[in-house]
Amino acid sequence: MNIKISQMTEKDLGILKDILIENFDEFWSFNTLKEELACTNSYYIVAKVNNNIVGFAGIKKILDEVDLMNIVTQKNKRNFGIASMLLENLIDKSIKLGASVMTLEVDETNFPALHLYEKYNFKKVGLRKKYYNGINNAVIMTKDLKVLQNN
Ligand SMILES: CC(C)(COP(=O)(O)OP(=O)(O)OC[C@H]1O[C@@H](n2cnc3c(N)ncnc32)[C@H](O)[C@@H]1OP(=O)(O)O)[C@@H](O)C(=O)NCCC(=O)NCCS
Repeated sequence: MNIKISQMTEKDLGILKDILIENFDEFWSFNTLKEELACTNSYYIVAKVNNNIVGFAGIKKILDEVDLMNIVTQKNKRNFGIASMLLENLIDKSIKLGASVMTLEVDETNFPALHLYEKYNFKKVGLRKKYYNGINNAVIMTKDLKVLQNN
């Protein structure tokens, strides 16, 4: 599969509007994504195969910390390495932005996502109890980028 990563454009956002619910998960609305893309401290990317959007992800930088805001792969394209490519790209970008740590939170029952983050050496540093729907705990994970800054 020939996966290409590029910065999300207004045109990409327009395309995502029509396919977001059907092709991706519903945990983020189009309006939230649009607001995020407009933030000056946000950086969003898309993964494309044959010019079709098959995944997207974004970060937000606050001081020397970068938050992973979202990462999602099209439902029928999972387990082909798309999220890995997106995450690698965002880690590289965060290093270029001078961030010293990347932080995220994930539902503790979301095993595909936990596996992805563990693959990239994110460490569990905290728990927000009953954070999702008042039921599931959120795991807070961080990746130290300082060690990668000078490589
Ligand atoms: C989590 C998600 C982004 C992973 O996307 P993906 O494109 O399938 O990920 P990759 O193919 O790059 O796989 C990354 C690693 O996770 C593993 N993985 C993927 N799906 C898995 C599953 N269902 N169970 C266990 N491991 C899984 C892969 O094997 C791979 O590890 P490996 O290289 O050691 O084999 C995708 O499942 C998704 O979009 N989920 C819904 C949105 C979501 O929950 N996002 C995270 C919010 S915190």
